[in-house]
Amino acid sequence: MGIVTTKNLTKVYPNGTKALDKLNLDLNSRISCIIGRNGAGKTTLIRILSTQLRPTSGKAEIMGYDVVRDREKIRKIICSIPQEVKPVGIASPLEHVAMYLTARGFSIKDALKVSRGVLTELGLGHFMSKPSDELSGGMKRKIFVAMAIASNADLVFLDEPTVGLDPISRLEVWGALRRLRSRVVLTTHYMEEAEALCEEIAIIEKGKVVSSGSLEELMEPLKGKVRVEGYGEMKIGSMNITYLSKKEAKMLLDKYNNDRRISIKPVSLEDVFILSGVEVEKD
Ligand SMILES: Nc1ncnc2c1ncn2[C@@H]1O[C@H](COP(=O)(O)OP(=O)(O)OP(=O)(O)O)[C@@H](O)[C@H]1O
Ligand SMILES: [Mg+2]
Repeated sequence: MGIVTTKNLTKVYPNGTKALDKLNLDLNSRISCIIGRNGAGKTTLIRILSTQLRPTSGKAEIMGYDVVRDREKIRKIICSIPQEVKPVGIASPLEHVAMYLTARGFSIKDALKVSRGVLTELGLGHFMSKPSDELSGGMKRKIFVAMAIASNADLVFLDEPTVGLDPISRLEVWGALRRLRSRVVLTTHYMEEAEALCEEIAIIEKGKVVSSGSLEELMEPLKGKVRVEGYGEMKIGSMNITYLSKKEAKMLLDKYNNDRRISIKPVSLEDVFILSGVEVEKD
């Protein structure tokens, strides 16, 4: 039984936008990640998986439960943090997290204890009793990440959990997610987040999964290659990019007499991402 399984999952919004197009996904790792361009369908997918939105057709299961038929059961075992959510201004981080935990069935005593621990772990120790209005944008985001981490849910969905977080805060969140017992499915635009955290990565584009697997599996087609910037027919923004073997790249640099406009970089998940997008656009 997979953690998340979808079969031909399709979502057409009332205005006719097809956000998910027969999407097939199978996630089985403790921490998995969904990446994809703006508008690819990530939030729509997370909302369907967390039973906030109904699919138009196709199927989706969470740990064997159907997202339509077993909605109530799924809601008991998951915690989902939406992409855009704001705290109540007058309530403190501690009040937010502790109230959420009591709603999930924690005793007040346990809720306060766990909330304090997680808020401290995420670097909000000194701010946990201040009104949320007085916090920075990143601190506000951390309140919701703290809820997910403290929830003790079997499966946690996080839609862009670390948006707007500074590099140290991001490391604190990664550490907390790694230590968690819950399974985690997150979306991110930070490639290094997917690389550092996720055992399984799915790339979605135009409502379909275009590649999925471990980082090593996704990187396989680029094995032995380097990224050459400033040369090649593939245009990303105003930059030309191509992928060549190290030997070819060296020959190219020699040919162009070490032209400074051409630079060579090691490949990473970002390159898998770029290539999956380019392939889709050729269709
Ligand atoms: N409520 C809605 N009504 C109509 N169309 C919508 C609605 N929400 C999203 N869409 C459309 O569905 C598509 C997928 O949007 P979605 O929010 O799922 O993308 P995303 O991958 O989460 O993007 P981002 O990285 O920007 O958060 C887009 O074309 C978007 O315009
Ligand atoms: Mg989104």
